[in-house]
Amino acid sequence: MTNPLMHQNERTEWFTHDRFGLFIHWGLYSLGARHEWLKSREFMTTEQYDKYFKRFDPDLYDPELWAEAASNAGMKYFVITTKHHEGFCLWDSKLTDYTAVHSPAGRDLLRPMVDAFRKRNMKTGLYYSLLDWHHPDYTVDVKHPLRYNPEFVQQDGTRQFQRYVDYMFGQTRELLTGYGPVDLMFLDFSIPPEEGFAGKGKNEWQSEKFVNMVRELQPNILLNDRLEVAGDITTPEQYMPKEWVKVGGRPVVWEACHTFSGSWGYYRDEESWKSVDMLIKMLIDSVSKGGNLLLNVGPTGRGEIDERALERLQGIGEWMKRHNRSIYGCTAAPEGVKAPDDCRFTYNPKTNRLYLHMFSWPFKSIHVSGLAGRIEYAQLLNDASEIKMKQGAKASSMAAGALSEGRDADTVTLSIPVKKPNAAVPVIELFLKPGAFA
Ligand code: GLC
Repeated sequence: MTNPLMHQNERTEWFTHDRFGLFIHWGLYSLGARHEWLKSREFMTTEQYDKYFKRFDPDLYDPELWAEAASNAGMKYFVITTKHHEGFCLWDSKLTDYTAVHSPAGRDLLRPMVDAFRKRNMKTGLYYSLLDWHHPDYTVDVKHPLRYNPEFVQQDGTRQFQRYVDYMFGQTRELLTGYGPVDLMFLDFSIPPEEGFAGKGKNEWQSEKFVNMVRELQPNILLNDRLEVAGDITTPEQYMPKEWVKVGGRPVVWEACHTFSGSWGYYRDEESWKSVDMLIKMLIDSVSKGGNLLLNVGPTGRGEIDERALERLQGIGEWMKRHNRSIYGCTAAPEGVKAPDDCRFTYNPKTNRLYLHMFSWPFKSIHVSGLAGRIEYAQLLNDASEIKMKQGAKASSMAAGALSEGRDADTVTLSIPVKKPNAAVPVIELFLKPGAFA
């Protein structure tokens, strides 16, 4: 049997325990309010894009409120875009003037954020874009805003990419030496060659050297997998993996990142917002496959998390308050334990409990195969009310080979109330017998 803990090591332990984090995409694109890629999508020059730099003035920014909303939602870590592809820096970088300090914001926006989240015992993650659509030595690739501008492309001959790489190393050094312990770094991303443009990957980023520097500065840091060298965390984006994510056939530590509505940056007119129920199910589904969920907010240009996002965070928090036991410290169920229809299992190997999440509420009974003789006690998690159960077939009252109440020898039947408990996704906590899955 697969040991559910075998993919972990000491460094990733907090991460696979915590399971749920907040991603924050915040930058000049928040003012455009129509996707964080707008500079590239609309083929804008830096001069055209400057209207945002000149007006970035988040007067309502209060990171204490952000941290509070995330913590109340049950999130345990956060990842902030210190610099996104547009190149704008939220911190006081000494290597460029393209920072919040030199915009109307007039201050380092990163430091108070890091302080606010740490105060709530949340771990710190820094996102840093490898792409940079502002740096003069960043060469044109298939994602660049000016890829169809022949004059700009031609000037690539005069660009010295090494200078950009030095800048990237230097900025990372600033982030990892100036802001206390950084638990995680999310580097984004490597570009395959396309449309006649060269790609950018581990050779261009000098990934190995980069990783060595990062680990030297912050030995306990976790890195994602987008530098094209093996990272600690594999990061599927905006899709639900169908099983435990594998690399080279081996299950890995993974984290899916998702948005509320499609884009990462604040998008005023987007209508595709996911419901609280759907988001909770996405979290459960990820944990049931051994993964984490990093859920994104795109604060406004004035510095607020808008009401649609807040409402969802609150809804998730309402569920997490009573059900976080089925998330923290949990992972996929032991091999061979198959969830019934419309259900997901998570499993806490330390407390030896299994959690049955019911995505739709069935009538009266729920049958779980593979668990007969292994459960000591069962209860609903929202109110700790006992759930009665019957284990195995009733041999004495059965005709040979027939089933009793739909049960066979291997099945446990849980008797549930007709009325669905008042929880977005009800959970039954199953206390396993010692050694049930040793
Ligand atoms: C993508 C996008 C980006 C977003 C990121 C989050 O790579 O370029 O806008 O920040 O995914 O994972």
